[in-house]
Amino acid sequence: MSLATVHVPLGARAYDVRIGPGLLTRAGAEIAPLLNRPRVFVVTEERVAALHLDTLRAGLATEGIGLEALVLPPGEATKGWTQFTRTVEWLLEQKAERKDIVVAFGGGVIGDLAGFAAAVLRRGVRFVQIPTSLLAQVDSSVGGKTGINSVAGKNLVGAFHQPGLVLADITVLGTLTARDFLAGYGEVQKYGLLGDAGFFEWLEANGPAIAVGDDALRLEAVRRSVQMKADIVARDETEQGDRALLNLGHTFCHALEAATGYSDRLLHGEGVAIGCALAFELSARLGLVSQEEPSRVREHLAAMGMKTDLADIPGYLPDAEGLLDLMGQDKKVVDGQLRFILARGIGEAFVAADIPRAVVRELLAEALLAR
Ligand code: GLY
Repeated sequence: MSLATVHVPLGARAYDVRIGPGLLTRAGAEIAPLLNRPRVFVVTEERVAALHLDTLRAGLATEGIGLEALVLPPGEATKGWTQFTRTVEWLLEQKAERKDIVVAFGGGVIGDLAGFAAAVLRRGVRFVQIPTSLLAQVDSSVGGKTGINSVAGKNLVGAFHQPGLVLADITVLGTLTARDFLAGYGEVQKYGLLGDAGFFEWLEANGPAIAVGDDALRLEAVRRSVQMKADIVARDETEQGDRALLNLGHTFCHALEAATGYSDRLLHGEGVAIGCALAFELSARLGLVSQEEPSRVREHLAAMGMKTDLADIPGYLPDAEGLLDLMGQDKKVVDGQLRFILARGIGEAFVAADIPRAVVRELLAEALLAR
C-alpha cells in the first residue's frame, strides 16, 4: 500500500497531508526537510505516549532527529488554560526557538492545544500534526483551527495557525477502540453527506469493512475526507462562508454534548452522526428533501453499529426547549438566529439562517418521545 498526499493550497501557508501506513516509522524522513536543527518538541498525552511514542522516537532517530516530549493527561479537560500554560512554559524551558518545530502527537485535544501553543510561542512557530485518532486525521488536524476551551464554552480561545505538515498514519488507527474509531467515522460520513453523494455511496458499500480494519479502504476513506476538507479550507480558510458546511450536524451535536456534560455518554463524533441525521430530518420537514433521505442516513449509521438518534443516548436529556436553549449558546449563532447546515439532497448541503424555532422544537420533541 503506497502513501497518499493531499496538498492544502494556501499560498505561503500551503502544506501536505501525508496519509498511509507506517508513517511514524518514516517520520524522520518526512519531517527532516522542515527542520533547522535535528530536534523536535513533541506534545502528546499519556495513552498515545504509552502506545506510540517509542515508535515515533525511533522513526525520527533514523534521520538523527532528537525528540523532547511533554506528556499531558488524556481527555477533554486537558484542553484548557492550565495545561496550555504548562505547555507554553515547557516549550520555553526547552528553549524551543522560532525556527524549531512543535509536533502535536495525539487526537483532537492535543492537536488543538499544541497548535495554539505553537501559534503564540515567540509570536508563532511552525508545527507538525501527527493525528492519532480517526477524528483528528479527517478533521481537526487539517485546516489550521487551534485553540482551547474557556469557562464560557468550548473552543472559545484560539487562532488560525496552519501546520507545516500533517502525517496521518493509518497503522495507528488499529489501536483505537471500536467506539473511538466509529466516533471518528461520524466525521467521515459527514463529508459524503455535505458534498459528495458518490463518496457516501462508496461508504455505504465499504463502511462495514472499514470498521473492521481494512487498511487500504481506511486509507481511501481518510484520503477522500481530507481532500474534501482541503478543498473547502482552500476556498474559505477563515470560515467566512463555505467552511461552515463542515459544521453539518454540529448545531445539534453541540447542544447534545452540552446536555450530556461532554462526558463519555456521547462522544463528539457520535453527536455529529446523530446531528447529521437530525439535520436531514429537519431538511425533510422543511420540504427540502424527501423523507427517504434522512432514512438513508440513519440506515447507514445503523449498519455501522453507530448511534443514530436521541434514543441511543443513555441517561437524562433536557426537553426540546432546553435543547434549543443550548443551541442558542453555540458560538456560530449570528445575531441570535439559529443557523443550521441543511441539505437539498445527499451531498448537497448549504447554510440556512433563521430556521423557525417551532419546527426544530417539534422535531426534537418527537425524537425525545421515542426515547
Ligand atoms: N472542524 C471544522 C473546521 O475545521 O472548520
